[in-house]
Amino acid sequence: MILSGHARLAGVIGYPVAHSRSPRLHGTWLERHGIDGAYLPLAVAPDDFAACVAALAKMGFAGANVTIPHKEAAFAVCDRVADSARRAGAVNTLVFTPTGIEGANTDGSGFLANLRAHGVNPAAGPALVLGAGGAARAIATALQDAGAVVTLCNRSPERAAALAREF
Ligand SMILES: NC(=O)c1ccc[n+]([C@@H]2O[C@H](COP(=O)([O-])OP(=O)(O)OC[C@H]3O[C@@H](n4cnc5c(N)ncnc54)[C@H](OP(=O)(O)O)[C@@H]3O)[C@@H](O)[C@H]2O)c1
Repeated sequence: MILSGHARLAGVIGYPVAHSRSPRLHGTWLERHGIDGAYLPLAVAPDDFAACVAALAKMGFAGANVTIPHKEAAFAVCDRVADSARRAGAVNTLVFTPTGIEGANTDGSGFLANLRAHGVNPAAGPALVLGAGGAARAIATALQDAGAVVTLCNRSPERAAALAREF
């Protein structure tokens, strides 16, 4: 592992975060490509989220990924959000820039990329999305944008109905 005083720092913010495979995943790529940097698990309680994000930016972190339960709070701390995040109502990627915090959501595009990598055209047929939480919202948005007719199915039907109304 290369870690100099100039190392680029990033991590995944969650609560809990110990189950996340992201540090191992990104750590492998940093090592494989000889990148001077580190990717850390960052356990942050909901009440501390905004203060910790501001501190990370001040400490020179390049950015952070955001997982449960912070994706909507992450949206709120951004100075600018990409269309992917605006439509999903949630942010899973924060980039700290000299002019503020930029937010994006890669849950939907990542899901579509995986479908395509397995030879599935998302527009080819109807799609059934199980769930109506943050991940389901991002994926349903991406599927609809790709041209699929989306059906939502959720344990709490009223939540699925509310999401369907938004679409
Ligand atoms: N890129 C990725 O691989 C990726 C990205 C995002 C999320 N995820 C994973 O996807 C999962 C969901 O994340 P999220 O952000 O969408 O969470 P969330 O917003 O909390 O939504 C959770 C969903 O699961 C349903 N659910 C929870 N417990 C259930 C149960 N016992 N029986 C049936 N349904 C149940 C909820 O239904 P109700 O509405 O009825 O509560 C809701 O639809 C997590 O495991 C997360 O780590 C993976």
